[in-house]
Amino acid sequence: MEKEIIEKYRKAGCILYEAQVYAKKMLKPNANLFECAEKIEEFIVKKGAKPAFPVNLSINENAAHQTPDWNEKTMLNEEDVLKVDIGVHVDGYIADGAFTITYADKHRKLIEACEEALKKAFDMLPKDPTFGEIGKTIEETIAAYGFKVVQNLSGHGLARYIQHAPPSIPNIAKNDSRRFEEGHAYAIEPFATTGDGYVRESGKANIFALEEPRAVRNSYARRILAFVEEHYKTLPFAERWLVRELKLSEFALKIGIKNLLREKCIKAYPILHDKPGSFVSQAENSFIKSEKGIVKLVGPCAELAKK
Ligand code: CO
Repeated sequence: MEKEIIEKYRKAGCILYEAQVYAKKMLKPNANLFECAEKIEEFIVKKGAKPAFPVNLSINENAAHQTPDWNEKTMLNEEDVLKVDIGVHVDGYIADGAFTITYADKHRKLIEACEEALKKAFDMLPKDPTFGEIGKTIEETIAAYGFKVVQNLSGHGLARYIQHAPPSIPNIAKNDSRRFEEGHAYAIEPFATTGDGYVRESGKANIFALEEPRAVRNSYARRILAFVEEHYKTLPFAERWLVRELKLSEFALKIGIKNLLREKCIKAYPILHDKPGSFVSQAENSFIKSEKGIVKLVGPCAELAKK
């Protein structure tokens, strides 16, 4: 991997870490989640990078792909388990990182389980583990805390302008002998749950991404498509971003999105949830495997610069 590219990944990871610190300060009980998401994304831009996807603020049984709607008024509840998943890119090179917060002591262990699983997985990396060994460590660590792993969510590769690139890295013990390859970037992200250990798609989505641009007749759809191709490329975007950037009315937005989905120009990322009433936690960090070894991406900037 060229030095220049490594530097871009590092910059993305360092800004992501600062965005996490900023997010933690802001996400207090009664915080307005719409405002928090917008402010975190704004922070990333001010630091000289861009969000690689809309800030995901997934609550309780929702494991991923929940971001506030453009007209949403949801506040953070003291009893909530909130997953904060942030992506930052510099010139398309992405760092992906997540943590979980709660203000309820009863949920502390659930969060600790995930953090410990992620830490153990990262500790293994210099020893060149197989994906199966990573999954086994994650699953066993979370099980030792008395929780289930979400089986159908996994870590992933990171490619330029592609947030979820192959391979998928299991969070469960599997007979998977693949190993991390030099010159590539990856994200590891365990999820622990009090539910079934299996997420399903809800009927609701407000995150989308370009699939295949083609000529569309509807004028709202055309405007959205042109904007997405230019500004987000193949990276996911939120409905609220379009409302803000294109000053679209609710009507125009709905018609445009509907058209683009029907024509398969864009795809939707529905909210992924475990069973109602359950709680899910998440922890995530990214790394690149360079000739010199493992370079963790999300961390204090000064610490990252030393390596
Ligand atoms: Co990820």
